[in-house]
Amino acid sequence: MKKLFLLFLITISSTSIFSQSQTNERARWFTDSRFGMFIHWGVYSGAEGYWKGEKLRNDNDYAEWIYYRNRIGKEEYLELLERFNWDDINPEDWVLLAKKSGMKYVTLTAKHHDGFGLWDSNIGNYDLGNYTQPKRDIVKELADACKKHGLKLGLYYSHWVDWEHEFGWDHTREIYKITPEQYDQYWQEKVIPQMRELLTNYGEIGMIWFDMWIHHSKTIVTKKQLLQLKSLIRELQPNCLVNSRLGLSIEEDPDIDFKTLGDNQLGSKKEDFPWQSPATVAHSWGFHSTDSEWKSTTTLLKSLINNVSLNGNFMLNIGPRADGTVPYEISERMIEMGKWLQVNGESIYGAEAFDLDKNQHDWGRITSKNEDGAFKVFLHVYNWPLNKKLNLTGISEKPQKVYIISDKQKTTLTFNHSGPFTEIQLPALQPDPYIPVVVAEYSKKPQIIENLVAKTVDKGYSLTPKNLLGNNDQLEVKRKSYKGTTPEHITVNKTTNLKWKIYVDTPGEKSLDISYSCQNKESLVNLRIKTANSELTHSTKPTGKTIGEPNQDWVIDNFKSFNLGNIEFTQTGVYVIDLNIEIVESGEVKFQWIWIE
Ligand code: GLC
Repeated sequence: MKKLFLLFLITISSTSIFSQSQTNERARWFTDSRFGMFIHWGVYSGAEGYWKGEKLRNDNDYAEWIYYRNRIGKEEYLELLERFNWDDINPEDWVLLAKKSGMKYVTLTAKHHDGFGLWDSNIGNYDLGNYTQPKRDIVKELADACKKHGLKLGLYYSHWVDWEHEFGWDHTREIYKITPEQYDQYWQEKVIPQMRELLTNYGEIGMIWFDMWIHHSKTIVTKKQLLQLKSLIRELQPNCLVNSRLGLSIEEDPDIDFKTLGDNQLGSKKEDFPWQSPATVAHSWGFHSTDSEWKSTTTLLKSLINNVSLNGNFMLNIGPRADGTVPYEISERMIEMGKWLQVNGESIYGAEAFDLDKNQHDWGRITSKNEDGAFKVFLHVYNWPLNKKLNLTGISEKPQKVYIISDKQKTTLTFNHSGPFTEIQLPALQPDPYIPVVVAEYSKKPQIIENLVAKTVDKGYSLTPKNLLGNNDQLEVKRKSYKGTTPEHITVNKTTNLKWKIYVDTPGEKSLDISYSCQNKESLVNLRIKTANSELTHSTKPTGKTIGEPNQDWVIDNFKSFNLGNIEFTQTGVYVIDLNIEIVESGEVKFQWIWIE
Protein backbone atom coordinates (compact mmCIF):
# COMPACT_ATOMS: atom_id res chain seq x y z
CA MET A 1 0.00 0.00 0.00
CA LYS A 2 2.80 2.35 1.01
CA LYS A 3 4.61 1.49 -2.19
CA LEU A 4 1.52 2.22 -4.22
CA PHE A 5 1.13 5.60 -2.59
CA LEU A 6 4.76 6.42 -3.33
CA LEU A 7 4.31 5.41 -6.94
CA PHE A 8 1.26 7.62 -7.12
CA LEU A 9 3.24 10.55 -5.71
CA ILE A 10 6.07 10.01 -8.16
CA THR A 11 3.67 9.88 -11.08
CA ILE A 12 1.92 13.05 -9.95
CA SER A 13 5.12 14.96 -9.42
CA SER A 14 6.65 13.84 -12.65
CA THR A 15 3.68 14.92 -14.72
CA SER A 16 3.40 18.25 -13.01
CA ILE A 17 7.08 19.21 -13.10
CA PHE A 18 8.27 17.81 -16.38
CA SER A 19 6.58 18.08 -19.67
CA GLN A 20 8.22 14.89 -20.94
CA SER A 21 5.71 13.33 -18.65
CA GLN A 22 7.05 9.87 -18.07
CA THR A 23 10.55 10.91 -17.06
CA ASN A 24 11.10 10.10 -13.43
CA GLU A 25 13.25 12.41 -11.32
CA ARG A 26 16.13 9.99 -11.45
CA ALA A 27 16.31 10.21 -15.24
CA ARG A 28 15.97 13.97 -15.46
CA TRP A 29 19.72 14.52 -16.03
CA PHE A 30 19.56 11.97 -18.81
CA THR A 31 16.77 13.59 -20.78
CA ASP A 32 18.39 16.98 -20.22
CA SER A 33 21.69 15.70 -21.61
CA ARG A 34 20.40 14.26 -24.90
CA PHE A 35 23.85 13.43 -26.23
CA GLY A 36 26.34 10.90 -24.90
CA MET A 37 29.35 8.84 -25.88
CA PHE A 38 29.46 5.06 -26.11
CA ILE A 39 32.88 3.44 -25.85
CA HIS A 40 33.47 -0.05 -27.20
CA TRP A 41 36.93 -0.99 -26.17
CA GLY A 42 38.29 -4.30 -24.95
CA VAL A 43 40.51 -7.24 -25.87
CA TYR A 44 38.85 -7.38 -29.33
CA SER A 45 40.19 -3.88 -30.08
CA GLY A 46 43.59 -5.55 -30.55
CA ALA A 47 42.21 -7.75 -33.35
CA GLU A 48 40.88 -4.87 -35.48
CA GLY A 49 38.43 -7.25 -37.18
CA TYR A 50 40.95 -9.96 -38.15
CA TRP A 51 42.10 -13.19 -36.53
CA LYS A 52 45.09 -15.06 -37.92
CA GLY A 53 44.71 -13.29 -41.24
CA GLU A 54 41.06 -14.11 -41.57
CA LYS A 55 38.44 -11.39 -41.55
CA LEU A 56 35.63 -11.52 -39.03
CA ARG A 57 33.17 -14.27 -39.97
CA ASN A 58 30.08 -12.16 -40.30
CA ASP A 59 29.24 -9.45 -42.75
CA ASN A 60 27.79 -7.30 -39.99
CA ASP A 61 31.42 -6.67 -39.07
CA TYR A 62 30.87 -6.19 -35.34
CA ALA A 63 34.54 -6.38 -34.41
CA GLU A 64 33.77 -6.99 -30.73
CA TRP A 65 32.23 -10.34 -31.72
CA ILE A 66 35.47 -11.83 -33.10
CA TYR A 67 35.95 -14.22 -30.17
CA TYR A 68 32.62 -15.89 -30.95
CA ARG A 69 32.54 -15.48 -34.70
CA ASN A 70 36.00 -16.84 -35.41
CA ARG A 71 35.76 -19.52 -32.73
CA ILE A 72 38.80 -18.36 -30.75
CA GLY A 73 39.93 -20.18 -27.59
CA LYS A 74 39.51 -18.42 -24.26
CA GLU A 75 43.22 -18.19 -23.39
CA GLU A 76 44.40 -17.72 -26.94
CA TYR A 77 42.12 -14.70 -27.26
CA LEU A 78 44.01 -12.92 -24.52
CA GLU A 79 47.17 -12.96 -26.63
CA LEU A 80 45.61 -9.92 -28.23
CA LEU A 81 46.45 -8.02 -25.05
CA GLU A 82 50.09 -8.06 -26.13
CA ARG A 83 49.18 -5.57 -28.82
CA PHE A 84 48.06 -2.95 -26.32
CA ASN A 85 50.32 0.07 -25.75
CA TRP A 86 49.57 0.55 -22.10
CA ASP A 87 51.75 3.64 -21.71
CA ASP A 88 49.74 5.48 -24.33
CA ILE A 89 46.30 4.49 -23.11
CA ASN A 90 44.62 7.25 -21.17
CA PRO A 91 40.83 7.14 -20.74
CA GLU A 92 40.90 10.82 -19.84
CA ASP A 93 41.50 11.49 -23.56
CA TRP A 94 38.15 9.86 -24.34
CA VAL A 95 36.42 11.96 -21.73
CA LEU A 96 38.04 15.10 -23.13
CA LEU A 97 36.88 14.15 -26.60
CA ALA A 98 33.36 13.59 -25.28
CA LYS A 99 33.42 16.97 -23.63
CA LYS A 100 34.72 18.72 -26.72
CA SER A 101 32.00 16.99 -28.72
CA GLY A 102 29.26 18.36 -26.49
CA MET A 103 28.44 15.00 -24.94
CA LYS A 104 27.27 14.89 -21.34
CA TYR A 105 27.90 11.27 -20.42
CA VAL A 106 30.08 8.35 -21.44
CA THR A 107 29.24 4.65 -21.32
CA LEU A 108 32.12 2.20 -21.36
CA THR A 109 31.93 -1.51 -22.14
CA ALA A 110 33.09 -2.58 -18.67
CA LYS A 111 32.39 -6.17 -19.68
CA HIS A 112 31.34 -7.05 -23.20
CA HIS A 113 30.13 -10.45 -24.43
CA ASP A 114 33.69 -11.85 -24.29
CA GLY A 115 33.30 -11.79 -20.51
CA PHE A 116 36.55 -9.88 -19.94
CA GLY A 117 36.33 -7.17 -17.27
CA LEU A 118 38.12 -3.88 -17.90
CA TRP A 119 38.62 -3.34 -14.20
CA ASP A 120 40.54 -5.06 -11.44
CA SER A 121 37.93 -7.56 -10.38
CA ASN A 122 38.10 -9.97 -7.48
CA ILE A 123 35.60 -12.23 -9.15
CA GLY A 124 37.21 -14.87 -11.33
CA ASN A 125 40.38 -13.99 -13.16
CA TYR A 126 39.23 -12.89 -16.57
CA ASP A 127 39.83 -9.17 -16.11
CA LEU A 128 42.41 -6.49 -16.68
CA GLY A 129 43.82 -6.53 -13.16
CA ASN A 130 45.15 -10.01 -13.84
CA TYR A 131 46.75 -9.24 -17.15
CA THR A 132 48.48 -5.88 -16.69
CA GLN A 133 51.61 -4.99 -14.81
CA PRO A 134 51.31 -2.54 -13.11
CA LYS A 135 47.64 -3.34 -12.76
CA ARG A 136 45.30 -1.20 -14.84
CA ASP A 137 41.71 -0.47 -13.97
CA ILE A 138 40.11 1.31 -16.90
CA VAL A 139 36.77 1.67 -15.12
CA LYS A 140 38.50 3.54 -12.29
CA GLU A 141 40.55 5.70 -14.63
CA LEU A 142 37.47 6.59 -16.62
CA ALA A 143 35.40 7.21 -13.48
CA ASP A 144 38.06 9.62 -12.19
CA ALA A 145 38.27 11.45 -15.50
CA CYS A 146 34.48 11.77 -15.66
CA LYS A 147 34.38 13.21 -12.18
CA LYS A 148 37.20 15.63 -13.01
CA HIS A 149 35.49 16.90 -16.15
CA GLY A 150 31.90 16.84 -14.94
CA LEU A 151 30.50 14.05 -17.11
CA LYS A 152 28.23 11.26 -15.98
CA LEU A 153 29.58 7.74 -16.13
CA GLY A 154 27.66 4.81 -17.56
CA LEU A 155 28.83 1.21 -17.62
CA TYR A 156 27.87 -1.33 -20.25
CA TYR A 157 27.69 -4.79 -18.71
CA SER A 158 26.91 -7.87 -20.79
CA HIS A 159 24.81 -9.83 -18.31
CA TRP A 160 23.04 -12.34 -20.51
CA VAL A 161 25.86 -13.26 -22.89
CA ASP A 162 29.23 -14.25 -21.48
CA TRP A 163 31.44 -16.38 -23.68
CA GLU A 164 34.22 -17.12 -21.22
CA HIS A 165 32.33 -18.45 -18.21
CA GLU A 166 31.76 -22.17 -18.21
CA PHE A 167 28.02 -21.62 -17.82
CA GLY A 168 27.54 -18.15 -19.30
CA TRP A 169 25.30 -17.73 -22.34
CA ASP A 170 26.99 -18.42 -25.65
CA HIS A 171 24.81 -19.08 -28.68
CA THR A 172 26.38 -22.49 -29.27
CA ARG A 173 24.39 -23.49 -26.18
CA GLU A 174 21.44 -23.67 -28.53
CA ILE A 175 23.10 -26.95 -29.59
CA TYR A 176 25.19 -27.89 -26.55
CA LYS A 177 22.70 -27.19 -23.82
CA ILE A 178 23.29 -26.06 -20.25
CA THR A 179 20.76 -26.37 -17.47
CA PRO A 180 18.98 -23.44 -15.82
CA GLU A 181 20.82 -24.38 -12.62
CA GLN A 182 24.17 -24.09 -14.36
CA TYR A 183 23.19 -20.73 -15.81
CA ASP A 184 22.13 -19.58 -12.37
CA GLN A 185 25.53 -20.59 -11.08
CA TYR A 186 27.09 -18.19 -13.61
CA TRP A 187 24.61 -15.53 -12.55
CA GLN A 188 25.21 -15.84 -8.84
CA GLU A 189 28.98 -16.27 -8.95
CA LYS A 190 29.83 -13.77 -11.66
CA VAL A 191 27.09 -11.30 -12.63
CA ILE A 192 25.79 -10.42 -9.19
CA PRO A 193 29.16 -10.05 -7.41
CA GLN A 194 30.75 -8.19 -10.33
CA MET A 195 27.85 -5.81 -10.44
CA ARG A 196 28.25 -5.32 -6.70
CA GLU A 197 31.90 -4.40 -7.24
CA LEU A 198 31.10 -1.94 -10.01
CA LEU A 199 28.39 -0.27 -7.96
CA THR A 200 30.50 -0.09 -4.82
CA ASN A 201 34.03 0.84 -5.81
CA TYR A 202 33.71 3.52 -8.45
CA GLY A 203 31.64 6.30 -6.95
CA GLU A 204 28.42 7.41 -8.52
CA ILE A 205 27.39 5.44 -11.59
CA GLY A 206 24.94 7.29 -13.84
CA MET A 207 23.64 4.21 -15.58
CA ILE A 208 24.19 0.53 -16.12
CA TRP A 209 23.66 -0.27 -19.77
CA PHE A 210 22.62 -3.87 -20.22
CA ASP A 211 22.54 -5.63 -23.52
CA MET A 212 19.96 -8.28 -24.22
CA TRP A 213 17.99 -7.86 -27.40
CA ILE A 214 15.38 -10.60 -27.13
CA HIS A 215 12.62 -11.12 -24.62
CA HIS A 216 13.70 -13.10 -21.54
CA SER A 217 11.00 -15.70 -22.20
CA LYS A 218 12.90 -16.71 -25.34
CA THR A 219 16.18 -17.54 -23.65
CA ILE A 220 17.73 -19.04 -20.58
CA VAL A 221 17.75 -16.00 -18.34
CA THR A 222 14.72 -15.69 -16.08
CA LYS A 223 12.69 -12.67 -15.09
CA LYS A 224 13.55 -13.48 -11.50
CA GLN A 225 17.26 -13.16 -12.27
CA LEU A 226 16.72 -9.85 -14.08
CA LEU A 227 14.72 -8.48 -11.16
CA GLN A 228 17.39 -9.64 -8.73
CA LEU A 229 19.93 -7.63 -10.72
CA LYS A 230 17.72 -4.58 -10.83
CA SER A 231 17.05 -4.67 -7.08
CA LEU A 232 20.77 -4.88 -6.43
CA ILE A 233 21.24 -1.69 -8.43
CA ARG A 234 18.36 0.04 -6.67
CA GLU A 235 19.80 -1.02 -3.31
CA LEU A 236 23.40 0.04 -3.94
CA GLN A 237 22.85 3.11 -6.11
CA PRO A 238 19.25 4.27 -6.07
CA ASN A 239 19.98 7.02 -8.60
CA CYS A 240 21.57 4.77 -11.18
CA LEU A 241 19.56 4.34 -14.39
CA VAL A 242 18.78 0.98 -15.93
CA ASN A 243 17.99 0.53 -19.64
CA SER A 244 15.40 -1.72 -21.24
CA ARG A 245 18.00 -4.06 -22.70
CA LEU A 246 18.16 -5.49 -19.24
CA GLY A 247 15.52 -7.66 -20.87
CA LEU A 248 12.46 -5.94 -19.44
CA SER A 249 10.58 -3.42 -21.52
CA ILE A 250 9.18 -0.21 -20.03
CA GLU A 251 5.72 -1.61 -20.74
CA GLU A 252 6.49 -4.77 -18.76
CA ASP A 253 8.22 -2.94 -15.93
CA PRO A 254 7.64 0.83 -15.61
CA ASP A 255 10.54 0.99 -13.18
CA ILE A 256 12.95 0.66 -16.16
CA ASP A 257 14.38 4.15 -16.62
CA PHE A 258 14.78 4.35 -20.36
CA LYS A 259 14.19 2.39 -23.50
CA THR A 260 17.10 1.46 -25.74
CA LEU A 261 16.25 1.21 -29.43
CA GLY A 262 17.98 -1.22 -31.78
CA ASP A 263 21.55 -0.65 -32.91
CA ASN A 264 21.64 2.42 -35.14
CA GLN A 265 17.87 2.63 -35.02
CA LEU A 266 16.58 6.19 -34.84
CA GLY A 267 13.30 7.23 -33.29
CA SER A 268 10.20 7.29 -35.46
CA LYS A 269 7.55 8.50 -33.07
CA LYS A 270 7.26 10.80 -30.11
CA GLU A 271 7.36 9.06 -26.75
CA ASP A 272 6.79 10.45 -23.29
CA PHE A 273 9.22 8.12 -21.57
CA PRO A 274 12.99 8.56 -21.96
CA TRP A 275 14.65 6.61 -24.73
CA GLN A 276 17.93 6.43 -26.56
CA SER A 277 19.47 5.25 -29.83
CA PRO A 278 22.92 3.70 -29.66
CA ALA A 279 24.75 4.58 -32.87
CA THR A 280 28.05 4.24 -34.68
CA VAL A 281 29.81 6.65 -37.02
CA ALA A 282 30.43 3.83 -39.51
CA HIS A 283 29.25 0.34 -38.68
CA SER A 284 31.29 -1.68 -36.18
CA TRP A 285 31.29 -0.83 -32.48
CA GLY A 286 34.76 -2.09 -31.62
CA PHE A 287 37.54 -0.79 -33.87
CA HIS A 288 37.50 -2.51 -37.24
CA SER A 289 40.30 -1.82 -39.70
CA THR A 290 38.09 -2.00 -42.78
CA ASP A 291 35.17 0.03 -41.50
CA SER A 292 34.52 2.56 -44.23
CA GLU A 293 30.98 3.81 -44.52
CA TRP A 294 31.41 6.90 -42.41
CA LYS A 295 28.26 8.92 -41.88
CA SER A 296 28.74 12.61 -42.47
CA THR A 297 28.69 15.16 -39.66
CA THR A 298 25.39 16.47 -41.03
CA THR A 299 23.88 12.99 -41.00
CA LEU A 300 24.97 12.50 -37.40
CA LEU A 301 23.62 15.89 -36.36
CA LYS A 302 20.33 15.09 -38.05
CA SER A 303 20.14 11.83 -36.13
CA LEU A 304 20.66 13.67 -32.86
CA ILE A 305 18.11 16.36 -33.74
CA ASN A 306 15.59 13.81 -35.02
CA ASN A 307 15.74 11.97 -31.71
CA VAL A 308 15.46 15.09 -29.56
CA SER A 309 12.47 16.19 -31.67
CA LEU A 310 10.77 12.98 -30.51
CA ASN A 311 11.99 13.15 -26.88
CA GLY A 312 14.92 10.81 -27.39
CA ASN A 313 18.66 10.70 -26.71
CA PHE A 314 21.50 9.84 -29.03
CA MET A 315 24.59 7.95 -27.86
CA LEU A 316 27.37 7.90 -30.41
CA ASN A 317 30.11 5.33 -30.26
CA ILE A 318 33.88 5.48 -30.44
CA GLY A 319 35.90 2.31 -30.95
CA PRO A 320 39.42 3.29 -29.84
CA ARG A 321 42.37 1.23 -31.03
CA ALA A 322 44.61 -0.81 -28.77
CA ASP A 323 46.78 2.25 -28.19
CA GLY A 324 43.76 4.21 -27.01
CA THR A 325 43.59 6.47 -30.07
CA VAL A 326 40.26 7.26 -31.62
CA PRO A 327 40.11 6.93 -35.42
CA TYR A 328 40.31 10.34 -37.05
CA GLU A 329 37.16 9.69 -39.08
CA ILE A 330 35.28 9.47 -35.78
CA SER A 331 36.95 12.17 -33.70
CA GLU A 332 36.87 14.71 -36.50
CA ARG A 333 33.10 14.35 -36.92
CA MET A 334 32.47 14.40 -33.20
CA ILE A 335 34.49 17.57 -32.73
CA GLU A 336 32.54 19.19 -35.55
CA MET A 337 29.33 18.18 -33.79
CA GLY A 338 30.72 19.77 -30.62
CA LYS A 339 31.38 23.02 -32.46
CA TRP A 340 27.83 22.99 -33.80
CA LEU A 341 26.49 22.32 -30.32
CA GLN A 342 28.47 25.21 -28.86
CA VAL A 343 26.50 27.55 -31.05
CA ASN A 344 23.21 25.68 -31.33
CA GLY A 345 23.15 23.51 -28.20
CA GLU A 346 20.29 25.48 -26.68
CA SER A 347 17.97 23.65 -29.08
CA ILE A 348 19.23 20.26 -27.89
CA TYR A 349 20.14 20.25 -24.18
CA GLY A 350 17.07 20.28 -22.00
CA ALA A 351 14.96 20.57 -25.12
CA GLU A 352 12.17 18.23 -26.08
CA ALA A 353 9.59 17.39 -28.70
CA PHE A 354 7.08 19.99 -29.75
CA ASP A 355 3.44 19.10 -30.38
CA LEU A 356 3.80 19.53 -34.14
CA ASP A 357 5.73 16.29 -34.48
CA LYS A 358 3.03 14.84 -36.72
CA ASN A 359 2.78 17.81 -39.08
CA GLN A 360 5.78 16.63 -41.08
CA HIS A 361 7.51 19.79 -42.15
CA ASP A 362 9.70 18.85 -45.08
CA TRP A 363 12.46 21.35 -44.31
CA GLY A 364 13.60 19.76 -41.04
CA ARG A 365 12.77 19.04 -37.42
CA ILE A 366 11.41 20.97 -34.45
CA THR A 367 12.38 20.93 -30.78
CA SER A 368 11.17 23.21 -28.01
CA LYS A 369 11.96 24.53 -24.57
CA ASN A 370 10.51 26.76 -21.88
CA GLU A 371 13.31 29.05 -20.88
CA ASP A 372 13.97 32.55 -19.49
CA GLY A 373 10.27 33.28 -19.26
CA ALA A 374 9.71 32.45 -22.92
CA PHE A 375 8.65 29.43 -24.91
CA LYS A 376 11.09 28.74 -27.71
CA VAL A 377 10.37 26.68 -30.76
CA PHE A 378 13.58 25.65 -32.50
CA LEU A 379 13.32 25.14 -36.23
CA HIS A 380 16.20 23.03 -37.52
CA VAL A 381 16.38 23.85 -41.18
CA TYR A 382 17.96 20.87 -42.95
CA ASN A 383 17.47 22.39 -46.38
CA TRP A 384 17.76 26.15 -46.63
CA PRO A 385 14.79 26.90 -48.92
CA LEU A 386 15.74 28.24 -52.34
CA ASN A 387 13.06 30.92 -52.08
CA LYS A 388 14.34 31.87 -48.56
CA LYS A 389 10.91 31.37 -47.07
CA LEU A 390 10.37 29.05 -44.17
CA ASN A 391 6.81 27.77 -43.81
CA LEU A 392 5.71 26.92 -40.31
CA THR A 393 2.27 25.32 -40.23
CA GLY A 394 0.23 24.61 -37.14
CA ILE A 395 0.97 27.30 -34.53
CA SER A 396 -2.02 29.57 -34.05
CA GLU A 397 -0.17 32.31 -32.21
CA LYS A 398 2.01 34.98 -33.67
CA PRO A 399 5.60 34.68 -32.45
CA GLN A 400 6.97 37.57 -30.41
CA LYS A 401 10.19 37.38 -32.36
CA VAL A 402 11.99 35.12 -34.75
CA TYR A 403 15.76 35.00 -34.98
CA ILE A 404 18.74 32.86 -35.90
CA ILE A 405 20.05 31.04 -32.82
CA SER A 406 23.66 32.10 -33.49
CA ASP A 407 22.72 35.77 -33.57
CA LYS A 408 23.62 37.15 -30.14
CA GLN A 409 21.61 40.33 -30.85
CA LYS A 410 18.57 38.21 -31.65
CA THR A 411 17.74 40.53 -34.55
CA THR A 412 14.26 39.59 -35.50
CA LEU A 413 13.63 38.16 -38.95
CA THR A 414 10.58 39.47 -40.76
CA PHE A 415 7.64 37.13 -40.91
CA ASN A 416 3.99 37.02 -41.87
CA HIS A 417 1.52 35.34 -39.63
CA SER A 418 -2.07 34.41 -40.38
CA GLY A 419 -4.25 31.78 -38.71
CA PRO A 420 -2.03 28.80 -37.89
CA PHE A 421 0.62 29.75 -40.42
CA THR A 422 3.87 31.65 -40.13
CA GLU A 423 6.03 32.43 -43.12
CA ILE A 424 9.51 33.47 -42.13
CA GLN A 425 11.78 35.45 -44.40
CA LEU A 426 15.23 33.88 -44.17
CA PRO A 427 18.55 35.58 -44.84
CA ALA A 428 20.00 34.81 -48.26
CA LEU A 429 23.02 33.06 -46.86
CA GLN A 430 22.60 29.91 -44.82
CA PRO A 431 24.07 30.91 -41.44
CA ASP A 432 25.48 27.49 -40.54
CA PRO A 433 27.24 25.08 -42.89
CA TYR A 434 25.62 22.06 -41.26
CA ILE A 435 22.17 22.80 -39.87
CA PRO A 436 21.01 26.33 -39.12
CA VAL A 437 18.50 26.82 -36.32
CA VAL A 438 15.79 29.47 -36.38
CA VAL A 439 14.09 30.30 -33.08
CA ALA A 440 10.46 31.35 -32.91
CA GLU A 441 9.79 32.80 -29.49
CA TYR A 442 6.41 33.00 -27.73
CA SER A 443 5.45 34.40 -24.34
CA LYS A 444 4.11 30.98 -23.34
CA LYS A 445 3.52 27.62 -24.92
CA PRO A 446 1.52 28.50 -28.04
CA GLN A 447 -1.73 26.89 -29.13
CA ILE A 448 -1.48 24.58 -32.06
CA ILE A 449 -3.87 23.10 -34.57
CA GLU A 450 -3.22 19.42 -34.67
CA ASN A 451 -3.14 17.29 -37.78
CA LEU A 452 -2.78 20.14 -40.19
CA VAL A 453 -0.82 19.02 -43.23
CA ALA A 454 2.25 21.25 -43.37
CA LYS A 455 2.83 23.38 -46.42
CA THR A 456 5.92 22.12 -48.22
CA VAL A 457 8.98 24.14 -49.13
CA ASP A 458 7.78 24.27 -52.74
CA LYS A 459 4.43 25.66 -51.60
CA GLY A 460 2.26 22.59 -52.10
CA TYR A 461 0.42 20.22 -49.81
CA SER A 462 1.18 16.54 -49.90
CA LEU A 463 -1.76 14.52 -48.56
CA THR A 464 -0.73 10.98 -47.74
CA PRO A 465 -2.01 8.03 -45.69
CA LYS A 466 0.41 9.20 -42.98
CA ASN A 467 -1.00 12.69 -42.40
CA LEU A 468 -4.70 11.89 -42.47
CA LEU A 469 -7.11 13.63 -40.15
CA GLY A 470 -8.28 11.73 -37.10
CA ASN A 471 -7.61 8.23 -36.05
CA ASN A 472 -7.13 5.95 -39.00
CA ASP A 473 -5.57 3.03 -37.23
CA GLN A 474 -7.72 0.57 -39.14
CA LEU A 475 -6.06 1.61 -42.40
CA GLU A 476 -3.02 -0.45 -43.01
CA VAL A 477 -0.27 1.65 -44.50
CA LYS A 478 1.87 -0.61 -46.70
CA ARG A 479 5.50 0.36 -46.35
CA LYS A 480 7.52 0.94 -49.43
CA SER A 481 8.88 -2.28 -50.86
CA TYR A 482 11.10 -3.57 -53.64
CA LYS A 483 13.83 -1.19 -52.58
CA GLY A 484 11.41 1.69 -52.60
CA THR A 485 10.34 1.18 -56.20
CA THR A 486 6.86 0.41 -54.86
CA PRO A 487 5.97 3.46 -52.77
CA GLU A 488 4.10 3.66 -49.48
CA HIS A 489 0.33 3.36 -50.01
CA ILE A 490 -2.95 1.95 -48.71
CA THR A 491 -4.98 -0.70 -50.46
CA VAL A 492 -8.66 0.23 -50.65
CA ASN A 493 -11.15 -2.49 -51.57
CA LYS A 494 -14.32 -1.22 -49.94
CA THR A 495 -15.81 2.24 -50.19
CA THR A 496 -13.79 4.53 -47.97
CA ASN A 497 -13.64 8.16 -46.96
CA LEU A 498 -10.34 9.85 -46.24
CA LYS A 499 -9.94 13.35 -44.88
CA TRP A 500 -7.15 15.86 -44.47
CA LYS A 501 -6.97 19.37 -43.14
CA ILE A 502 -4.92 22.14 -44.71
CA TYR A 503 -4.55 25.83 -44.06
CA VAL A 504 -4.66 27.96 -47.19
CA ASP A 505 -2.75 31.19 -46.61
CA THR A 506 -2.85 32.40 -50.21
CA PRO A 507 -6.32 32.08 -51.70
CA GLY A 508 -6.87 31.33 -55.37
CA GLU A 509 -7.10 28.46 -57.79
CA LYS A 510 -5.10 25.39 -56.95
CA SER A 511 -4.52 22.36 -59.05
CA LEU A 512 -5.01 18.86 -57.73
CA ASP A 513 -3.20 15.64 -58.66
CA ILE A 514 -3.78 12.14 -57.36
CA SER A 515 -1.44 9.18 -57.52
CA TYR A 516 -2.53 5.55 -57.38
CA SER A 517 -2.13 2.11 -58.84
CA CYS A 518 -5.21 0.42 -60.25
CA GLN A 519 -5.01 -3.10 -61.63
CA ASN A 520 -8.71 -3.63 -62.49
CA LYS A 521 -9.45 -4.05 -66.18
CA GLU A 522 -12.60 -1.92 -66.11
CA SER A 523 -13.20 1.14 -64.06
CA LEU A 524 -14.55 -0.15 -60.76
CA VAL A 525 -13.33 2.68 -58.58
CA ASN A 526 -14.61 6.23 -58.54
CA LEU A 527 -12.93 9.07 -56.74
CA ARG A 528 -14.68 12.16 -55.50
CA ILE A 529 -12.82 15.00 -53.86
CA LYS A 530 -14.80 17.64 -52.05
CA THR A 531 -13.56 20.85 -50.53
CA ALA A 532 -14.29 24.55 -50.53
CA ASN A 533 -17.76 23.98 -52.01
CA SER A 534 -16.21 22.35 -55.06
CA GLU A 535 -16.11 18.80 -56.19
CA LEU A 536 -13.81 16.97 -58.58
CA THR A 537 -14.52 13.49 -59.78
CA HIS A 538 -12.41 10.88 -61.48
CA SER A 539 -13.02 7.40 -62.62
CA THR A 540 -9.83 5.40 -62.07
CA LYS A 541 -7.94 4.08 -65.05
CA PRO A 542 -5.81 0.95 -65.14
CA THR A 543 -2.24 1.99 -64.46
CA GLY A 544 -0.61 -1.30 -65.50
CA LYS A 545 2.76 -2.51 -64.39
CA THR A 546 6.29 -1.27 -64.53
CA ILE A 547 9.78 -2.71 -64.10
CA GLY A 548 11.34 -2.08 -60.68
CA GLU A 549 14.88 -3.04 -61.60
CA PRO A 550 15.94 -3.54 -65.20
CA ASN A 551 16.97 -7.06 -66.24
CA GLN A 552 15.71 -8.69 -63.05
CA ASP A 553 12.12 -9.62 -63.89
CA TRP A 554 10.95 -7.21 -61.27
CA VAL A 555 7.41 -6.51 -62.38
CA ILE A 556 5.70 -4.16 -59.96
CA ASP A 557 2.52 -2.08 -59.82
CA ASN A 558 2.68 1.19 -61.67
CA PHE A 559 1.80 4.14 -59.45
CA LYS A 560 0.81 6.99 -61.69
CA SER A 561 -0.54 10.48 -61.08
CA PHE A 562 -3.53 12.11 -62.77
CA ASN A 563 -4.50 15.73 -62.78
CA LEU A 564 -8.08 16.14 -61.59
CA GLY A 565 -8.46 19.84 -62.35
CA ASN A 566 -8.56 23.01 -60.27
CA ILE A 567 -10.30 24.04 -57.10
CA GLU A 568 -10.92 27.63 -56.12
CA PHE A 569 -10.03 28.47 -52.53
CA THR A 570 -11.72 31.83 -52.24
CA GLN A 571 -10.34 32.89 -48.87
CA THR A 572 -7.63 32.12 -46.36
CA GLY A 573 -8.61 29.51 -43.84
CA VAL A 574 -8.65 25.89 -42.80
CA TYR A 575 -10.14 23.50 -45.38
CA VAL A 576 -11.01 19.87 -45.02
CA ILE A 577 -10.19 17.84 -48.11
CA ASP A 578 -12.53 14.92 -48.35
CA LEU A 579 -11.67 12.02 -50.62
CA ASN A 580 -14.37 9.47 -51.26
CA ILE A 581 -13.16 6.25 -52.84
CA GLU A 582 -16.15 4.38 -54.15
CA ILE A 583 -15.57 0.72 -54.88
CA VAL A 584 -17.91 -0.98 -57.34
CA GLU A 585 -18.14 -4.79 -57.22
CA SER A 586 -14.68 -6.21 -56.64
CA GLY A 587 -12.71 -3.12 -57.53
CA GLU A 588 -9.54 -2.15 -55.76
CA VAL A 589 -7.20 0.81 -55.78
CA LYS A 590 -3.86 1.42 -54.13
CA PHE A 591 -3.93 5.02 -53.05
CA GLN A 592 -0.66 6.89 -52.68
CA TRP A 593 -1.13 10.69 -52.42
CA ILE A 594 -2.92 13.86 -53.40
CA TRP A 595 -0.88 16.92 -54.30
CA ILE A 596 -2.42 20.39 -54.12
CA GLU A 597 -0.55 23.38 -55.44
C1 GLC B 1 24.58 -5.40 -29.86
C2 GLC B 1 25.86 -6.15 -30.03
C3 GLC B 1 26.99 -5.50 -29.40
C4 GLC B 1 26.99 -4.01 -29.27
C5 GLC B 1 25.64 -3.46 -28.99
C6 GLC B 1 25.58 -1.95 -29.06
O1 GLC B 1 23.84 -5.81 -28.84
O2 GLC B 1 25.79 -7.47 -29.60
O3 GLC B 1 28.17 -5.99 -29.88
O4 GLC B 1 27.66 -3.78 -28.12
O5 GLC B 1 24.68 -4.01 -29.75
O6 GLC B 1 24.30 -1.43 -29.04
